[in-house]
Amino acid sequence: MTTSLFAPLTLPNGGTLPNRIAKAAMEENLADAGQLPGAALWRLYEAWGAGGAGLLITGNVMIDGRALTGPGGVVPERGTPLEPFRRSADGRTLAREAYFLSFAQEIAAVSRMPVMTTGGIRRQAVAVVAMASALACMPDLPKRWRDGQAVDAPLAVVGWRDKAVAGLATMALVKRRLRVIAAGRRPRRSYSPLYSLVIDQLRTCKLTARYRQWRQARG
Ligand SMILES: Cc1cc2nc3c(=O)[nH]c(=O)nc-3n(C[C@H](O)[C@H](O)[C@H](O)COP(=O)(O)O)c2cc1C
Repeated sequence: MTTSLFAPLTLPNGGTLPNRIAKAAMEENLADAGQLPGAALWRLYEAWGAGGAGLLITGNVMIDGRALTGPGGVVPERGTPLEPFRRSADGRTLAREAYFLSFAQEIAAVSRMPVMTTGGIRRQAVAVVAMASALACMPDLPKRWRDGQAVDAPLAVVGWRDKAVAGLATMALVKRRLRVIAAGRRPRRSYSPLYSLVIDQLRTCKLTARYRQWRQARG
């Protein structure tokens, strides 16, 4: 596929993406009290909206508060005030090869809808590429590429021997960067994986206690 990343794409429903770069889903774990979106999430999505990606996909939004993927998830349930959700919707819409790229190309050959791939993206092989970790490091990476800057987002790969703990630390690094952007600052190029993991675990304990209280209050 030779289409420029910055060529618009008309979707089957008539909508148009201004370019082929999508921000992939990332569970933010940044809900305010009551599992509602608030200032932190607005700032994060504002940064991505201004950063030039043609499509923003939110992290998990769970419609049943008993089934969250993390204690800081947002939950629109019956009786939930909708205004905070409307406000967050106002934000505008590599070292490894993408995992299933050749498979995705086979799907694209027979599919009538545009195909998007995600995961370790470093080349465009189908209609849309979706990036997660890179846009947590550098939310304006698409804009920089569009402006001709030859920049790569730093890859946060933790090479510890215990792969399970290393995976947790890698996620903790990404989530730390999301919190920095949500606080209105620019993430640094590197952080300590161990310290990031510790603060992520402590934060999860705190959010879990708040979530339990919220669940109990709902009966
Ligand atoms: C912190 C974090 C949270 C994620 N949360 C979600 C999620 O809520 N839903 C989902 O479908 N994928 C989620 N993913 C997977 C990403 O959308 C993406 O497929 C994956 O990270 C590979 O892309 P990357 O190599 O550009 O990071 C998450 C990834 C990260 C790093």
